[in-house]
Amino acid sequence: MLQLSRARNIADLRLLARARLPRMVFDYIDGGADDEVTLRRNTAAFRDIELVWDTLKDVVNIDTSVTLMGETMRSPFFISPTASSRLFHPRGGESAVARAAKAAGVMYACSTLASISMEELDRVAPGPKWFQVYVWKDRELVAETLARAKAAGFTGIILTVDLPVAGNRERDYANDFTIPPKVTWRTASQALARPGYLYDLMTTPRIGTANFAHLKKLDGGLIDFVNAQFDRGVDWNGAAWMRDTWKGKLAIKGIATASDARRAVELGADAVWVSNHGGRQLDTAPATIDTLPAIADAVRGDAEIVLDSGVRRGTDIVKALALGANAVALGRGYLWGLAAGGEAGVARALTIFDEELRRAMALLGRTSIAALTPDIVFKRS
Ligand code: FNR
Ligand code: LAC
Repeated sequence: MLQLSRARNIADLRLLARARLPRMVFDYIDGGADDEVTLRRNTAAFRDIELVWDTLKDVVNIDTSVTLMGETMRSPFFISPTASSRLFHPRGGESAVARAAKAAGVMYACSTLASISMEELDRVAPGPKWFQVYVWKDRELVAETLARAKAAGFTGIILTVDLPVAGNRERDYANDFTIPPKVTWRTASQALARPGYLYDLMTTPRIGTANFAHLKKLDGGLIDFVNAQFDRGVDWNGAAWMRDTWKGKLAIKGIATASDARRAVELGADAVWVSNHGGRQLDTAPATIDTLPAIADAVRGDAEIVLDSGVRRGTDIVKALALGANAVALGRGYLWGLAAGGEAGVARALTIFDEELRRAMALLGRTSIAALTPDIVFKRS
């Protein structure tokens, strides 16, 4: 079988993850909403964009560092918040991801639905981190969460706004998939087919929403928690409430239009985060790389811009930065590494992105992130 160190690219890590995970868990990472049109478009749109280079440039020294939401990173990519990492690697989980991110000099953003608590995370990976939240029905619980995040040293909050309801993930339905997994004939047979994973799952603490373990009403698992807490009534007043309540850096994640981007800027967001949740929410949404240029025009440098959804190659990162993003966030790109090999797997994913980015920049003749300007994108007639 392919070894972690022999994984040449993110697609290789995905194959390793598939070999390691029960199908329901692999599909939860891999899948999207409805017909997965957006899921496919996210990657296809990047491939459709062509790059041209400057010849005969000195590319001996390449500097990939950037500053985002007040934090300096070695690379213009970082860890996007994703739910319940212990599901993908029961022993490593969020700790493995946060350690690998720290070692690579990039930021870690922790999901509200993480499987270890933010306090524990700060113990295993001390230093600046970001925390992702939703505006829930129970505002006191949100305010308390923000206070805890501040006490645990988190310097920025990411407000995710593309999830008023959960997207329709049909693979999860077909697999009887829930978090934590429930035992049905289907899930049991899938799990038994991956004994290594099953052993790890059964010899580690039960997976749950660790940040809210103190709440009694959590017995139904993650999806019941989400359904109980998600507030379909949240509007821009909810975002304004968040801006007033949290004094640190704030990003708004899940922006799809120039007018909403402008609205986020007016509200006082430090970063506008262009995302379609990796094709997991509204299907047939456009690829983020296609909506980015108009959003960057509207933001006019008044806030930083993050892009995610479909980033799998160093050249994808280059394209996003050339078209107006300050940094990209990685979702599946590191999750496959996590599933394939815990902390070492995430480290491998981050190394692959770093090497591919540096190679692309050398080939483009551009030695700094600021030099990744729109003229490297070829305009096809
Ligand atoms: C996510 N994403 C996500 N986003 C968020 O704000 N809170 C969350 O808890 C999660 N959970 C989650 C779980 C899994 C398994 C995936 C794949 C994604 C979305 C994530 O932050 C990011 O927007 C997308 O993953 C980006 O797309 P790519 O890079 O996966 O294509
Ligand atoms: C997901 C949610 C939890 O994408 O954000 O699975």
